[in-house]
Parts: sequence; C-alpha cells; structure tokens
Amino acid sequence: MTATVLNTPVKLGHHLLNNRVVLPPLTRQRSAQPGDIATDLMAEYYRQRATAGFMVSEGTQIEPRGQGYAWTPGIYSPAQIDGWRKVTHAVHAEGGVIFAQLWHVGRVSHNALQPEGAAPVAPSAIQAQQAKAFIATGPGTGDLVQPPVPRALNLLEIDELVGQYAQAARNALDAGFDGVEIHSANGYLVNQFISAHSNQRDDQYGGSLDNRLRFLREVVEAVSQVVGPERLGVRFSPLFSGTDQDRVYIGLVEEDPHHTYIEAIKVLEQSGIAYVSIAEADWDNAPDLPDSFRQAVRSTFSGRIIYAGRYTAERGARLVEAGLADLIAFGRPFIANPDLPQRLFNGWPLNPLRAEGMYGGSELGYVDYPAYAE
Ligand SMILES: Cc1cc2nc3c(=O)[nH]c(=O)nc-3n(C[C@H](O)[C@H](O)[C@H](O)COP(=O)(O)O)c2cc1C
Repeated sequence: MTATVLNTPVKLGHHLLNNRVVLPPLTRQRSAQPGDIATDLMAEYYRQRATAGFMVSEGTQIEPRGQGYAWTPGIYSPAQIDGWRKVTHAVHAEGGVIFAQLWHVGRVSHNALQPEGAAPVAPSAIQAQQAKAFIATGPGTGDLVQPPVPRALNLLEIDELVGQYAQAARNALDAGFDGVEIHSANGYLVNQFISAHSNQRDDQYGGSLDNRLRFLREVVEAVSQVVGPERLGVRFSPLFSGTDQDRVYIGLVEEDPHHTYIEAIKVLEQSGIAYVSIAEADWDNAPDLPDSFRQAVRSTFSGRIIYAGRYTAERGARLVEAGLADLIAFGRPFIANPDLPQRLFNGWPLNPLRAEGMYGGSELGYVDYPAYAE
C-alpha cells in the first residue's frame, strides 16, 4: 500500500510519534461564551481524532486583541487554561500528542472584537484588503466584515507582545499541552511583520528582511526559553502563485518567497526548534510548491518538516519517501473523518466533508462524522 510510510513512527522533540499523520490547526469557533473558553464538546472532537501521530490545536488567541473571529478560544485567562485542560486530558487518555497553536491576528480583526472597540493593532497602519474578520451578530450567527485600518504598534507594545507570546506558552504547558506552535502563517501578526506589504516600519522591525524577521526571532526565542526548543514549532505559508486569489494571505505575497522563507527558516534552525510546518496554497488549482524550495527547506532545517494542503495519502507518502517531508497534515479530510489515519492506512473510503458546522455551531458537522464501519 502506497501510504505505508505514513504509518511508521517518527521522533518529534521528546516524543516518539506513532505515525506521520498530523491534525493541523483548524479553527472551528465553538468556544463557550462569554470568555472564549474551550468546552467538553471540543474535548470530544479532539479525543475522536487522537490517533493522529501529532495534533495541533485550532488557533488560540494569546491576548484579547489577538482575536479576529467570534468564538475562537483564547489561552490568556485562568478559565481558558482550565478549559484547555479538558482537551489535553482527553487527548492524552487516548495516547495522543497535542501542541497549542499560539495565534495573534494583528490587523485581521474588527473593532467589534477589540477591547473597548479600539482599532486592531499591526506592524503598520495598512488595512487588510482581501482578508475578512468575523463578528457575532447574535448567538450563533455572525457576519464576515472588512477589517478597518489598524493602529501601528509602538516599540514598547512590540516588546510587551513578545512577552504575551511567552506567557501564552507558559499557559499552554499549564493546560497540559505537550508544546506550542507559533502561528506565523496566513497573513496574521507574525506574517504581517515578515511581509514588506504589511510592514512599512522605519525602525528596527521594518525595512530589510533581517529587520522584518526580528519579531519572529524575538517571539521564537522568548517562547523557546519557556517551553524549550524541543517543544516548539512554527507555521509558515510561503506563497509562490502571485495571482489574485481571494485568500486570507493575499496582499502578503512576497517578491521573492524562496529567499524570504528560507531566511525565516534559518531563524528557526538557529533556535533548534522541533519542527517547521508549511501550509501550502490549498484552493482548487493552486500551484504546487517548487521542488527547489522543498529541497532548500530540507537542507536548511534539521528539525522535522510538516506539509499541509490538499494532500492525499499517496502524495504525502511520496514526499516522505523522497526525503522532503517527515509528517503530512490533512485538514479538511480530518474534519470529516475522525479515524482518518486508520482509513488512510487501510485504504478505506473517506466520508465527504459537509459545509454544515464548519465554522461555529454545535455537534453537527463537528463530532457527528462516523468512524468507518465495514
Ligand atoms: C475550517 C478550517 C480552519 C482552519 N484554521 C486554521 C487555523 O486556525 N490555523 C492555521 O494555521 N490554519 C488553519 N487552517 C488551514 C489548515 O490547517 C490546512 O493548512 C488547510 O486546511 C489545508 O489542508 P487540507 O487541504 O488538507 O484541508 C484552517 C483550514 C480550515 C479548512
């Protein structure tokens, strides 16, 4: 069977993972209100998927300003830490390994989600054009909205934010997570610092690529001091298309994505972190990453490499066999198939994904997808 290699153990930091199938971060907007607190239902959702070799939580905001979508969970209050503890206990009871994805949306937010209705914060006061925020208009209902012009962070605030990442990492360990992943992808705050489109600062955080990577470097170092490099991963979304896709990261397409992201990965290599996760373009007909880029990632980074984006078991296995990837993440297939690893390893058919309950809602489209029955 072509997927066999995905069913082999692999070391990641301290852990020997059972297999190479990853549950990537998937925002599902089901936290308890008020307070953005992880729930028993969320614990059940993650428990169902704990046969993944490795799991990453949905993006979880590190502070109130880090939220860009209604009902996403946070990891800054004591109640939020208690909520996540239910999730990590459920996953560990099934033998799973789970990291928390630390998220700050930066400019991709809206006054309605911000403390005191303030403008969202960002490296520069440059509005996100394509990306949308999502605000609640009632219990369980809401609207996608255009983010306003953000307010540029000052140096003191940048320093405080680095500290908030470190504190969120501490909270994640307190909540029982096995480690953390810094969300540096998809046009959110760290990505906004890296991109010359959204970062037009004239201080040490803007201008040259080295300066634009400074925030990433500082966050990685601060978080690594808390959790240790072996409990740390970073997610990027290098885009090579340059075409006008209606995607959250649009506007952040780099002039030279290869150079930008290989330099970013060098930052990770210097810190010796456990893994880099690459979120590829995932819309229909998206261009594949160039092989030269994948090879450069491998030769630059000595930790584990995870890819996600429209993978089948066969395509993922080929990449692992070619030595270019260590783990493969499956997003939408894992939403629809709680027992995805077993289905992939046995060649069993997959449940189709339903649109219902993808973002927000109840059990429907969340914990009601059946496991395979012959
Ligand atoms: C419903 C949904 C929510 C997502 N939420 C996040 C998120 O919180 N953080 C993140 O880094 N990526 C997020 N992604 C991207 C996925 O992790 C993954 O990269 C993407 O779905 C491509 O994989 P796939 O083609 O196997 O679905 C999300 C994707 C979907 C479909």
